Amino acid sequence: MTPHISAKKEDIAKTVLMPGDPLRAKKIAETYLENVKLVNEVRNMFMYTGTYKGVEVTIAGSGMGCPSIGIYSYELYNFYDVENIIRIGSAGSYKEEIKVYDVYNVKEAYGDSNYAKLAANIDDKVIKAGTELYSLIENVAKDKNIKTLTGRAHSADVFYRHDDITEFVKENELDVVEMESVALFANAIKAKKQAACLLTISDNLVTKEITTAEERQNNFMQMVEIALEVAVK
Ligand code: HPA
Repeated sequence: MTPHISAKKEDIAKTVLMPGDPLRAKKIAETYLENVKLVNEVRNMFMYTGTYKGVEVTIAGSGMGCPSIGIYSYELYNFYDVENIIRIGSAGSYKEEIKVYDVYNVKEAYGDSNYAKLAANIDDKVIKAGTELYSLIENVAKDKNIKTLTGRAHSADVFYRHDDITEFVKENELDVVEMESVALFANAIKAKKQAACLLTISDNLVTKEITTAEERQNNFMQMVEIALEVAVK
């Protein structure tokens, strides 16, 4: 038990998939896992453990933003002996050619905040995903014939910004925007564990193209299937 997770240590698998939304964790667990058990409901941050192709996997909500995923991933790595965390989330696209429903494997994340400095004493603004997990995702996606795009994500702190960030995006070579990966990557580096982040593009900030909730649900599952396959490798 930790301050934020009531699961027993043995009820959390070595690999954890983390959607932001705890209800999405429920949906994924119910759709794909066998022998599913609800292992955490503190703050309604549902976590489920079950088996996929006979291998134990945990699906856990992370909440939104670096502080939230920072807490859960820290506790999973350091108190539950988790080895791999794959965030599975959504992102906005900063580029016309990165379209809604594209699947994006984050190679590195640019952080707005000083989370990486405070949590892991890392001075860099750009933090890399775990290379093993990142490469495994690329290989599994290729095997499944699912195209992935890859590069640098903006791990933003502010969803509703006051300013135009076109220049900032160009200068820092940012492809897409989400709000969690830099904290996850920094915690993984500090704990000497693996982290990756797979994203489905939910909106394009250039073309203003958006997705419907129903379409999002279907397309999100491609990314989930890649992550589950990686979990059992
Ligand atoms: N900003 C931040 N995070 C996001 C967005 C966005 O536009 N879309 C999906 N996740």
